[in-house]
Amino acid sequence: MTMTENRPVTEWLMSGPKKLLIGGEWVEAASGKTFQTYNPSTGEVLAHVAEADSADIDRAVIAARKAFESDAWRKMTPSKRGQLLWKMADLIEKNADELALLETLNNGKLLKISRAADVPLCADHFRYFAGWATKIEGETVPVSVPNMFTYTLREPIGVVGQIIPWNFPLQMAAWKLAPALAAGNTIVFKPAEQTPLTALRLGELFLEAGFPPGVVNIVPGYGPTAGAAIASHPGIDKVAFTGSTNVGKAIVKASAGNLKKVTLELGGKSPNIILPDADIKNAIRGSMNAIFFNQGQVCTAGSRLYVQKSVYDEVVSGMTDLATKMRLGPGVDPGSEMGPVISQEQLERVTGYIETGKREGATVRTGGSRAGGELANGYFVQPTVFTDVPDSATIAREEIFGPVVVAMPFEDMDELSARANDSIYGLAAGIWTNNLKNAHKLAATLQAGVIWVNTYNAFDAAAPFGGYKQSGYGREMGHAVLHEYTTTKTVWVNLR
Ligand code: NAI
Ligand code: MG
Repeated sequence: MTMTENRPVTEWLMSGPKKLLIGGEWVEAASGKTFQTYNPSTGEVLAHVAEADSADIDRAVIAARKAFESDAWRKMTPSKRGQLLWKMADLIEKNADELALLETLNNGKLLKISRAADVPLCADHFRYFAGWATKIEGETVPVSVPNMFTYTLREPIGVVGQIIPWNFPLQMAAWKLAPALAAGNTIVFKPAEQTPLTALRLGELFLEAGFPPGVVNIVPGYGPTAGAAIASHPGIDKVAFTGSTNVGKAIVKASAGNLKKVTLELGGKSPNIILPDADIKNAIRGSMNAIFFNQGQVCTAGSRLYVQKSVYDEVVSGMTDLATKMRLGPGVDPGSEMGPVISQEQLERVTGYIETGKREGATVRTGGSRAGGELANGYFVQPTVFTDVPDSATIAREEIFGPVVVAMPFEDMDELSARANDSIYGLAAGIWTNNLKNAHKLAATLQAGVIWVNTYNAFDAAAPFGGYKQSGYGREMGHAVLHEYTTTKTVWVNLR
């Protein structure tokens, strides 16, 4: 259907198996292997993609190292680096329709969201970091050792491995690639095996923009092979990872071999809190977005909904109504309000959690299973609202990463803070209130890297983002991320 309406996308998909980008060339995997990538709305195969494993990671690391040491990159002025990043933003915009459709076909997300958010935010990220390329400054240091002139240099770390998940393929790619390049690193980039297509298309745009060969290498493949090879590679100086907490821990262990630097953006079980003085209609709408946006496949999803007792029934029935009416369907269908989850594996994981919730005695207010009928071939899960969930329930503690919210009443704010913070995670929190004091008090108390007051899931390239506790370490975006992609050298000059 829509696929055929966009000739460039159809032609691109039909133009044969996709290859790996290594050293500025499109190459087959050393093993010759390919894997299939799917449309999660239909379960159909979209394309065959070369499957990188450790031999290909070796080749990509050699290409990235060569590029890092080459004059073409090393002697490139910061201004020129910034211009290349700006050019990427222009090319992303120029190919916006095509990228949006490809993102939706491969990920399942709503096409209107790919168009309005994923693609423009990806371009914006490149543009924001284009500006930073010329502004990464060292300092002069007023040391107290006599006759010394002391200053710092901010240098790129070197070859950076980047591993991303499938929930926001284009945006995650931009979050990783743009700041690392602005700082002058070279990259071995592995998209998720579920969603390699827009990353490969970005690879073509990197070449078109004029990045020197080997500066960006793109190597789709599976986690335990290609991903693990990146994490343990002695030739990689830093790994930036977004994904599950368990794989994050495996990456930390694997990094010990050469003590590569690691930054991690991991899972969450974020509390979203409604106080009785909130604009309740607005809070209900915002809390729907907090949990159901992107089918709930968002690391910051507001999956633990805490509502003050006096407004609990109103909120729960409001959300239950809206969720019941939500129209599930393929992302390319303009009438769809929620798409499929990413894969059979995620479908099973999410419905497995729903069954666990039922078994542990929680009440399903709406949803509670996979969607059938016309949608039976896709990986569609009904938006699901649970009540009667004790804090100790599995579905109240573990990240589900699907359209499933647990609604829990609370009495007062002190009790609430302790419950909200009782989690291994600390990525985000939402607060709905019109009371300024309560908003700031809670924002200070909650253990999370981002707090949203009367909004949820707001992001901007300028605003730092990252986790507390087992939601990871390091920050993305803003100038904070540049510290993650540079290292500081201190120079002492004896003036006597
Ligand atoms: P995952 O963490 O296994 O995969 C994310 C990325 O890591 C992919 O590129 C994958 O190929 C790679 N990877 C997997 N194993 C690896 C290894 N041993 N070494 C290096 N790289 C490896 O996540 P998965 O299996 O797709 O989803 C499972 C759960 O993880 C989800 O249900 C959700 O709870 C969580 N998750 C959280 C995300 C977030 O944004 N924080 C994103 C994706 C998943
Ligand atoms: Mg996994």
